[in-house]
Amino acid sequence: MEILTTLTKGLLNYSSTMKSQIRVCVNVNCCQRGSQEVATTLEKAFIDGSTEVITSENCFRFCKSGPNVAVNGALLHHMSPSNAVARVRQALTQKTVKKEALGTRPLDELDAALDEMMKF
Ligand code: FES
Repeated sequence: MEILTTLTKGLLNYSSTMKSQIRVCVNVNCCQRGSQEVATTLEKAFIDGSTEVITSENCFRFCKSGPNVAVNGALLHHMSPSNAVARVRQALTQKTVKKEALGTRPLDELDAALDEMMKF
């Protein structure tokens, strides 16, 4: 159990230092719908160092709902330069599986879950 506690503490520290990631699809369909302008708007709004804005030419496979933006893995559709900053700020306040899953669990909660698992 001691090793698990050490591992969990390490993961918690790692999670708290992770940057939030905003990925903007700039493949053909999203670009035709204005995703490059969305990316430029987000790059200007999120220059604080805690968030990185990345453009991606890998299609997110939701072309008809574009421009698409992924905030820590959570997809936002129909983005525009006028709504992008507010929608991304809201998404950043919500927990996501990719960024928050283990890192937001208190140690006591993890210990209790592990104890429960050890019963089987
Ligand atoms: S081009 Fe952006 S989702 Fe396909």
